[in-house]
Amino acid sequence: MKRVLYVMLIVRCLAVSSFGQANGNAQEGKRLFMKHNCYYCHGTSGQGGRDGARIAQTALNLQGLTRYVRQPAGSMPAFTEKILSDRELTDIYAYLKSLPAAKAPKDIPLLNDIGTSK
Ligand code: HEC
Repeated sequence: MKRVLYVMLIVRCLAVSSFGQANGNAQEGKRLFMKHNCYYCHGTSGQGGRDGARIAQTALNLQGLTRYVRQPAGSMPAFTEKILSDRELTDIYAYLKSLPAAKAPKDIPLLNDIGTSK
């Protein structure tokens, strides 16, 4: 019995360490998003802005996001690990994923009124 409990404990620790990685703290992520000026280009809700792309509900996975932020392809400044740790990026990722998705054009009444009302 003791041994079963022991094994369960190990399994539980493994589960926490691997899933803990992907489960960032969205609240903390929001704070970091503001603190590191991501909002300046991407909008306060990641909706996209003057300079940055829409990143709310990003299609990237955590690895993809981390890679991009460390070595951006375009005009975005790079954020090294010294500035923003992997742990902090996990939180930012959780924040981006917690944001509402963009509405489809068909779900925006005003757009649908145009052309249909005579
Ligand atoms: C100075 C403006 C600026 C700031 C600050 C900035 N970004 Fe960006 N970001 C961009 C631009 C512009 C792009 C689009 C790629 C391009 O053409 O440069 C981009 C692209 C991205 C992408 C890829 C989007 C995709 O789906 O391909 C991610 C993810 C991203 N930014 C995350 C961040 C995070 C997280 C921060 C804060 C730590 C941040 N950005 C800060 C300008 C910025």
